[in-house]
Amino acid sequence: MTTDNRRKFDGDKLVIASHNKGKIAEIGDLLADFGVEVISAGDLNVEEPEETETTFRGNAVLKAKHSAEATGLPALADDSGLAVTALDGAPGVYSARWAGQPRDFNMAMEKVHAALADNMDRSATFICALALAWPDGHVEVFEGTVGGTIVWPMRGEKGFGYDPVFQPTGFDTTFAEMEPQQKHAMSHRADAFRQLVKACF
Ligand code: IMP
Repeated sequence: MTTDNRRKFDGDKLVIASHNKGKIAEIGDLLADFGVEVISAGDLNVEEPEETETTFRGNAVLKAKHSAEATGLPALADDSGLAVTALDGAPGVYSARWAGQPRDFNMAMEKVHAALADNMDRSATFICALALAWPDGHVEVFEGTVGGTIVWPMRGEKGFGYDPVFQPTGFDTTFAEMEPQQKHAMSHRADAFRQLVKACF
């Protein structure tokens, strides 16, 4: 893909359209080399909009545009989840919602396992969409992926979410058994960030 026609980020302040402190710190670290100060949408009292779209891209764009319009600053949002091939891409954009409220990812992984039953196709993809929106409505979107298989039983204690049942292609450990640096170097989020940085920073 050519990156020449992408709009460049040339400001020094970027709003992160999330209230998740861990996510904001991680993005701040990733963009520190570019002299960008990241500010949380929560700190600017921007409400989180409801994720009403049916695609990762749609939800990332919705969240980034909402924060850019509310603050008058460029805003970055991500939306991610697990798409299981034999389940027609479920849980997909509902990955967090499959864990109920309060979140219980053991239950969500049990649900994936039960839904797959004896299906031979265990392939799955983690997907991360990143949207960078400007107050004038312009948006650049990037989608990162990592492929793998669903394993059972769950393995490993590290990571979060569906990591204990996801084994990336070419590895014999799940994301939850890997050191965080190893996962972060190959993850769907890393893939999307590499594309964003290459194109816009
Ligand atoms: P979001 O924060 O609305 O994008 O929700 C993403 C959801 O997808 C999380 O709550 C996790 O369930 C799942 N997810 C996304 N990325 C990962 C990952 O790297 N490992 C495990 N689960 C993930």
